[in-house]
Amino acid sequence: MPFEGYNPKAMDHFLNPRNTGEVRNPTHSASVRNAACGDMVKLTLRVENGLITEARAKTFGCAAAIASSSALTELIIGRGVEEVRGLKNSDVLALLGGLPEGKEACSVAAEDALREAFK
Ligand code: FES
Repeated sequence: MPFEGYNPKAMDHFLNPRNTGEVRNPTHSASVRNAACGDMVKLTLRVENGLITEARAKTFGCAAAIASSSALTELIIGRGVEEVRGLKNSDVLALLGGLPEGKEACSVAAEDALREAFK
């Protein structure tokens, strides 16, 4: 069972990832690699007047990574840059209702991409 341990919310974000692709002419972007497995996340953003008006992610990774990127975009769209700067992968995990044991680290690239985008 490849998806054993995934709760329905996390599965939904994996099977129907939100905000995929790339923002056209982004104001901010970052491509990061998960150091543990080599999977990648590219995050592109449009920031207008301090607000994230658009966010899209392209994720080359496992189900947990795809679900995490999807959750991240939901967490940040419509919020202020200063407000989201401190977001952690624990916030992504909370939105997903958790990930299976051993897969929590797959959400770290989403946090890293956000931090990198605002460097
Ligand atoms: S195995 Fe690479 S991010 Fe999950």
